[in-house]
Amino acid sequence: MPVTVVVGAQWGDEGKAKVIDLLAKEHGYVVRYQGGHNAGHTVVVGGERYALQLVPSGILYDHVVPVIGNGVVVDLPTLFAEIDGLEVRGISCARLQVSSRAHLIFPWHQAHDAIAEAVRGDDKIGTTLKGIGPAYADKARRVGLRAGDVVDPRAFAAAVRARAVAENAEITAAGGEPLDVDDIVDRFAVLGARLVPYVTDTVGLLHDALGRGDHLLLEGAQATFLDLDHGTYPYVTSSNPTAGGACAGTGLGPRDIDRVVGITKAYTTRVGAGPFPTELTDDDGDTLVDVGREFGTVTGRRRRAGWLDCVMLRHAVRLNSLSEVALTKLDVLDGFATVKVCTGYLLDGAAVRAYPDRADVLARIEPVYDELPGWGTTLSEVREPVDLPAAAGALIALVEREVGIPVRVVGVGAERDDYVIWRSPATQAGVGRSLAGARSRAEGDGPGDPRT
Ligand code: GDP
Ligand code: IMO
Ligand code: MG
Repeated sequence: MPVTVVVGAQWGDEGKAKVIDLLAKEHGYVVRYQGGHNAGHTVVVGGERYALQLVPSGILYDHVVPVIGNGVVVDLPTLFAEIDGLEVRGISCARLQVSSRAHLIFPWHQAHDAIAEAVRGDDKIGTTLKGIGPAYADKARRVGLRAGDVVDPRAFAAAVRARAVAENAEITAAGGEPLDVDDIVDRFAVLGARLVPYVTDTVGLLHDALGRGDHLLLEGAQATFLDLDHGTYPYVTSSNPTAGGACAGTGLGPRDIDRVVGITKAYTTRVGAGPFPTELTDDDGDTLVDVGREFGTVTGRRRRAGWLDCVMLRHAVRLNSLSEVALTKLDVLDGFATVKVCTGYLLDGAAVRAYPDRADVLARIEPVYDELPGWGTTLSEVREPVDLPAAAGALIALVEREVGIPVRVVGVGAERDDYVIWRSPATQAGVGRSLAGARSRAEGDGPGDPRT
């Protein structure tokens, strides 16, 4: 499979990095295509925890060329802190490539992020305050500075100064504290000089790699329901994590992509505000947070938690052309006597067929659940499908049936090797193998129908 995309199928933190680490074994390039240091991607190897924000998750393999694609917004202080942290631990980042077209984040973006959240008051998005939205806004209004600009230090310094002065006027007009322009210019002169050796035309690099027969893994950050267009707007991030964003964010074309892997937890979490139909605010929710260690990698915030939502997943199959699912953190459900899975939505008592297109409608949804018995045992040592308890197999089979595509990987722990390559009886019989099958099930007729 020359080009594979990995996409979060929920609201982020699905365990994308662990699956990318697994798939990276057979890929020469791992390419981030959107987002920035709002991402927190965790890989655990032999008890060592690597929490990555900007450096692609393939960095842990010597054979991988890690690439920051044109669709990413790059915070240079974070990038270099991350590189330094990895190199101290013996992971060389010398082969990292940064797109000359990637936009840079500056302190004024973080200032604007904070002001915008304060202005929203109770209605705030709950952003990571990393300046992501303002950086993408500057890209859209065509005033952003890009990684390629650092190759001319004098012009870069002049452009940083001009932007800093203009942004200061906006910040003070909005009631914020002005930034120290000279300090920013000085700091970014040093950071820009350090970036120069990493900067390249990654579009050419990736197409050349493809031409040589190399395999490329495109690493999504955030997730389908945080997508600027398709997520629960306005409670979204400011980029397109959906698979379409992988083309825009790398310069590869849609026909270059062969495989799209959707990552979902065996339950659901969300950090920040916004509707969440299957959210649990009771002891079960606390158990998911405690056992699943659901605290943000980047901000440390407690994540909201609830049951798995197959209506969401069916929509994610459509939006991303998902070909398969990686079901992570199944082990977190070990202690539950009963596990619930949402298979349909009700709105004012009536079944809803299509995924709601408005956050206020989604907020009024009442989930319809299937209940399954738990398995009453620990999954963390399981490596072979045959060793998974029947009740766990039944949950996987339910997901495959509801979502219409096969589950290929099942996560049973945080460590690199804590997974099962799944081959369910349904998969062997060909259920859901084709995308056509998946599409006809997604939100339409058949087992994917909401139940009343
Ligand atoms: P990402 O942003 O999608 O890459 O996910 P995060 O790294 O933010 O969050 C996922 C968390 O779950 C990390 O702490 C992972 O180490 C952990 N994790 C990943 N897969 C599994 C799994 O199958 N079981 C358990 N228990 N933890 C997992
Ligand atoms: P990974 O890649 C979970 C959420 C924030 C907020 C919204 C907008 O680790 O899955 P932003 O700072 O992007 O403007 O915030 O998006 N968010 C994430 N939630 N995982 C992430 O990344 C996220 N990145 C942003 O909490 O609700
Ligand atoms: Mg994360």
